[in-house]
Amino acid sequence: MAFSQLAFLALVALAQAQETVLGVYIFSRHGDRTPKALPPTKLTDLGYREVYDRGSYYRNRYVSSSASSPIYGISADQVSLSQLAVSAPADNVLQSSAQGFLQGLYPPVGSELVTQTLRNGSSVQAPMNGYQLIPIALVSSGSGSEDNGWLQDATNCNNAEISSNSYFSSAEYDDLLASTSDFYSNLTEYVNGTFNGIQMTYKNAYSIYDILNVAEIHNSSFDMPDRSFQESLWLANAHEFGLAYNVSDNARAVSGMQLAGEIVTYLNNTITAGNAGKTSNKFGIQFGAYATFLSFFGLSNLTEASNDFYGVNDYASSMVFELFTTTDVSSSSFPSVADMQIRFLFHNGSSANSSDPTAFPLFGQDSVTLPWNDFVGNMSTFAIKTTEEWCTTCGNTTGICAEYAPAAGGDDGGDGSGHGSGISTAVGGVIGAMVTLAVVLGLEAIILLVGGLRVVSKKRLAGAGPSEMKA
Ligand SMILES: *[C@@H]1O[C@H](CO)[C@@H](O)[C@H](O)[C@H]1NC(C)=O
Ligand SMILES: *[C@@H]1O[C@H](CO)[C@@H](O)[C@H](O)[C@H]1NC(C)=O
Ligand SMILES: *[C@@H]1O[C@H](CO)[C@@H](O)[C@H](O)[C@H]1NC(C)=O
Ligand SMILES: *[C@@H]1O[C@H](CO)[C@@H](O)[C@H](O)[C@H]1NC(C)=O
Ligand SMILES: *[C@@H]1O[C@H](CO)[C@@H](O)[C@H](O)[C@H]1NC(C)=O
Ligand SMILES: *[C@@H]1O[C@H](CO)[C@@H](O)[C@H](O)[C@H]1NC(C)=O
Ligand SMILES: *[C@@H]1O[C@H](CO)[C@@H](O)[C@H](O)[C@H]1NC(C)=O
Ligand SMILES: *[C@@H]1O[C@H](CO)[C@@H](O)[C@H](O)[C@H]1NC(C)=O
Ligand SMILES: *[C@@H]1O[C@H](CO)[C@@H](O)[C@H](O)[C@H]1NC(C)=O
Ligand SMILES: *[C@@H]1O[C@H](CO)[C@@H](O)[C@H](O)[C@H]1NC(C)=O
Ligand SMILES: *[C@@H]1O[C@H](CO)[C@@H](O)[C@H](O)[C@H]1NC(C)=O
Repeated sequence: MAFSQLAFLALVALAQAQETVLGVYIFSRHGDRTPKALPPTKLTDLGYREVYDRGSYYRNRYVSSSASSPIYGISADQVSLSQLAVSAPADNVLQSSAQGFLQGLYPPVGSELVTQTLRNGSSVQAPMNGYQLIPIALVSSGSGSEDNGWLQDATNCNNAEISSNSYFSSAEYDDLLASTSDFYSNLTEYVNGTFNGIQMTYKNAYSIYDILNVAEIHNSSFDMPDRSFQESLWLANAHEFGLAYNVSDNARAVSGMQLAGEIVTYLNNTITAGNAGKTSNKFGIQFGAYATFLSFFGLSNLTEASNDFYGVNDYASSMVFELFTTTDVSSSSFPSVADMQIRFLFHNGSSANSSDPTAFPLFGQDSVTLPWNDFVGNMSTFAIKTTEEWCTTCGNTTGICAEYAPAAGGDDGGDGSGHGSGISTAVGGVIGAMVTLAVVLGLEAIILLVGGLRVVSKKRLAGAGPSEMKA
């Protein structure tokens, strides 16, 4: 096993100019779902298929024993929970999508591998042919996001809501609202009474497009001129990008800032673990809403790489951050950070699992790869990594943010060391950036409801192999 794996790595390394992938972070949208305007939304069979296929694709790219760019040291068939961190908000569609994706990423291992002999000699087999149980942690921001027409509502961030709201009083908004009123009133016949006449305006551009898009996919008697459909998509894109990002007002993009913090933190943990000779923290996977994508596209200047990044990304699309090195890797000599690089990849939509994601340059640069340290430096210009940073950006001063509120009596002049560093378990989950299991346990009921999943304690997660999971 070790030998064939090494031989295989050697071959791959040759084939790919000596590249070895050390860790990966994926942020993915959900698959096809029912319309937002008719909550509760749910993942459709088609959507399940889409996320499952994406999971299979990434299995063939990063995980399986014949993967094209295997993650160094990752368990190929039986999931090792310490290597994987999966999260999604408390939302039907996103939780189900994460589950479907994982079924493709780590499919059932077959009954031979999941048979145990008990003390009394009898043997038991896990159900469902060795289906692998993988916990999905909850991120608290974005709860119920697929039921929300206005996604900023789900961030809980005061300044983000104010900023996003101010889009509705911008000149751009007013212009489009006025110039499209005829267009939208002409669409009334296609939305089957879901919206009344007054609601048929640019103000509801995304919700209207959403209904049309669902009908375009599912309704055999739906017959709308393609030009009008494309126009409604174009308008929905302008609307949603306007709500998700404003170059002179970063708070609007708070969900993208949190995501940036999560990505840097996770891949940095990959490096820390590797340096300590551990085989953990290799693959981070998060499901989230398109608004978070748009905020991140704006913040990271991907919009300079392609105008397509101004548009809402399709269902089941994913962005990928590959941490890789071109030096030799072995467990005794993990590469130094100076030898590590990052590549950003994007896959738009649900097309067949054979289509590869495309590399794009981040931060308005020319190269599609960049040194880890530069990546961290650029991400850090906007990433939110602690509760304190979140509270400051959001201007929230009560609840979990009370601790960081500017002191009225001016006793705040010190170094701040009393409250600045670290995140206590109680507050960590609230910002969504730091996925703490305390939050998972607190919201166990929701996970059970949504995903039918078992929640395991942190202690067990840390050490659990697959067989313990099935105990
Ligand atoms: C062996 O132990 C298991 C679990 O306690 C029990 O379900 C099973 O009936 C036992 N078998 C025998 C033959 O006693
Ligand atoms: C932040 O402030 C907004 C508006 O006051 C509030 O709705 C939200 O719950 C607050 N968030 C947190 C985490 O306290
Ligand atoms: C972007 O932010 C600036 C400064 O707050 C504001 O003047 C402008 O109207 C905003 N634009 C949009 C489209 O929201
Ligand atoms: C709306 O429909 C009317 C009547 O069919 C048509 O004359 C007009 O051009 C349409 N307007 C737009 C913006 O599509
Ligand atoms: C409108 O949609 C509902 C489902 O949301 C359906 O039951 C109803 O038949 C539709 N109306 C027409 C006229 O097709
Ligand atoms: C399907 O589309 C037709 C034509 O636009 C519409 O009348 C009908 O209500 C739609 N059905 C559903 C379930 O929305
Ligand atoms: C990476 O982790 C190390 C060790 O925990 C820490 O000292 C360092 O500040 C982290 N760097 C970043 C960019 O988070
Ligand atoms: C993804 O596809 C949608 C439409 O299918 C488009 O509007 C959007 O701009 C595309 N995004 C990227 C980054 O390619
Ligand atoms: C695509 O997914 C299907 C199952 O959904 C699988 O049989 C097939 O091998 C996959 N193809 C590739 C190229 O990953
Ligand atoms: C993105 O582009 C803007 C304007 O060109 C620049 O001010 C900003 O520093 C860039 N941000 C990053 C992270 O590259
Ligand atoms: C961003 O990346 C570029 C190119 O690698 C680098 O020159 C620059 O110093 C980085 N910016 C920061 C703030 O680290």
